[in-house]
Amino acid sequence: MAFYQRSTLSTNLVATLMILGLIRFSFVECRRKLLFESYAAYPAINCRKHTAFLTEFGGNGDGITSNTAVFQAAVQNLSQVADDGGAQLVVPPGKWLTGSFNLTSHFTLFIQSGAVIIASEDAEEYPVVEPLPSYGQGRDGPGGRFSSLIGGSHLTDVVVTGDNGTIDGQGSIWWKKFNRKKLKSTRPYLIELMYSNQVQISNLTLIDSPSWFVHPVYSSDIIIQDLTIRAPVDSPNTDGIIPDSCNNVKIQDVRVVSGNDCVAVKSGWDEYGVRFGVPTEQVIIRRLTCNSPNGSVIALGSEMSGGIKNIRAEDITAINSQSGVRIKTSPGRGAYITDIFVDGMNLQTMDYVFWTTGSYGEHPDLGFDSRALPVVDRINYRNVVAEDVKMAGNMGGIDNDPFTGICLSNVTIGIGTQQENLVWNCTYVSGVSSNVIPEPCDVLTEKGPSDCEYPPDAIGIDMVELKTCSFSSV
Ligand SMILES: *[C@@H]1O[C@H](CO)[C@@H](O)[C@H](O)[C@H]1NC(C)=O
Ligand SMILES: *[C@@H]1O[C@H](CO)[C@@H](O)[C@H](O)[C@H]1NC(C)=O
Ligand SMILES: *[C@@H]1O[C@H](CO)[C@@H](O)[C@H](O)[C@H]1NC(C)=O
Ligand SMILES: *[C@@H]1O[C@H](CO)[C@@H](O)[C@H](O)[C@H]1NC(C)=O
Ligand SMILES: *[C@@H]1O[C@H](CO)[C@@H](O)[C@H](O)[C@H]1NC(C)=O
Ligand SMILES: *[C@@H]1O[C@H](CO)[C@@H](O)[C@H](O)[C@H]1NC(C)=O
Ligand SMILES: *[C@@H]1O[C@H](CO)[C@@H](O)[C@H](O)[C@H]1NC(C)=O
Repeated sequence: MAFYQRSTLSTNLVATLMILGLIRFSFVECRRKLLFESYAAYPAINCRKHTAFLTEFGGNGDGITSNTAVFQAAVQNLSQVADDGGAQLVVPPGKWLTGSFNLTSHFTLFIQSGAVIIASEDAEEYPVVEPLPSYGQGRDGPGGRFSSLIGGSHLTDVVVTGDNGTIDGQGSIWWKKFNRKKLKSTRPYLIELMYSNQVQISNLTLIDSPSWFVHPVYSSDIIIQDLTIRAPVDSPNTDGIIPDSCNNVKIQDVRVVSGNDCVAVKSGWDEYGVRFGVPTEQVIIRRLTCNSPNGSVIALGSEMSGGIKNIRAEDITAINSQSGVRIKTSPGRGAYITDIFVDGMNLQTMDYVFWTTGSYGEHPDLGFDSRALPVVDRINYRNVVAEDVKMAGNMGGIDNDPFTGICLSNVTIGIGTQQENLVWNCTYVSGVSSNVIPEPCDVLTEKGPSDCEYPPDAIGIDMVELKTCSFSSV
């Protein structure tokens, strides 16, 4: 029985199961439990007509048995109703070990409270696929990449949510291999959706990804919210959320503890990204809390060769992190980072409040064009409070290609006892400042009382209202 239509779980079925005798008894018990306990209402971009539980496809939640084929079969089966109102697949409480599987369109994966999807530690469970076309090479080295734990390509209308259920990437085995340089292919990401639109990822706890956590790429109309993301602060490249060549993205109410950037906005790497040519545009990041001593709260780059434009960040909080909203680029990247707007950052214990880097390095191969210089312009920060900071601004651009149009207003920075020799270091950058304490470098010209710009209009995705969806097992 794949789908519960309302009222189809009849006494007939129960009776039939009873006749089958004791062997089936525990199954009946299980159904009864579902009958009385499995109800949830949740916000989503779209509700689904059909509901199925992973257990119907033979799922085993003992934490030992692999459910890879079960997840794949369940999604395959439910893809049949994509054009008939779509389906929601409920992962009930239990420990569901699995390798890589893909989602489908008009589909919701709902991870219940008490359910943990556990990523298999067996590399064979992650078939190696081609590098991303906008990167040319895998990010951990030349060659292919292990499939993401939860993937999908060319999908429309897909939701991964729950009532704070968990996805555990069991990353430590991968971090060790990476640190020992033992990997021939790039590590899996936790969730990656490619060439997709209308995507929602919400109300989940994500822990210990092998590498990046949430990676929408070549996709649009994306809502990512109410996530708790956690990896050890010394784990390699465990960036939280990475919109990569994506358009119309909302990220809000997310808490990240990570070994690298909490959010990283990207758009492809050097000559491959230039050729692919798809920017990341129209992103709003709101109420992000970050704790990452070796990462930025939000990084723009370093892979930005399709361009990055119109990125907004509001109500940002950080504790013990390396920097606020950081720009990372390099000769060879080409393209642009422009129209960046930050309003409201509250930062505690930081290396740098402002950090821009024009010499990031890291190239996919020797084929990059060192004359491909990025344009960095119109970078606005206003209403910033920071305490216990080592250096207020470490702002470097590129010789003969300065970063321009930098604006800082209403900024109060308390320098801590571990301060660097310089409070500001500004090289190959220019712009204006207003009401900034401590007094910034001369190239950020004092312009008298006025605020840096923040666009008054909303981004499209911010106006999408979620519906209230539900399921029950009866
Ligand atoms: C898959 O879906 C079909 C309906 O198309 C159904 O008849 C079948 O029983 C389902 N398979 C499983 C394993 O539930
Ligand atoms: C998931 O989709 C990707 C992209 O279409 C494909 O390369 C991969 O083989 C699929 N993985 C599985 C397990 O079906
Ligand atoms: C997320 O799940 C938790 C736990 O069930 C629930 O209390 C909360 O209301 C949910 N949040 C949203 C925004 O749905
Ligand atoms: C979800 O669970 C995590 C980890 O247990 C917890 O820290 C967080 O507060 C929970 N979020 C919600 C919305 O209940
Ligand atoms: C910090 O992250 C960078 C890459 O983003 C890495 O090269 C470096 O080793 C990390 N440092 C520590 C102390 O983890
Ligand atoms: C300056 O920024 C602080 C911190 O965000 C804010 O509370 C305050 O209202 C701002 N002042 C003005 C004049 O905008
Ligand atoms: C200032 O920054 C530039 C380039 O970013 C660097 O070369 C220089 O060493 C820095 N100066 C100090 C004193 O840190």
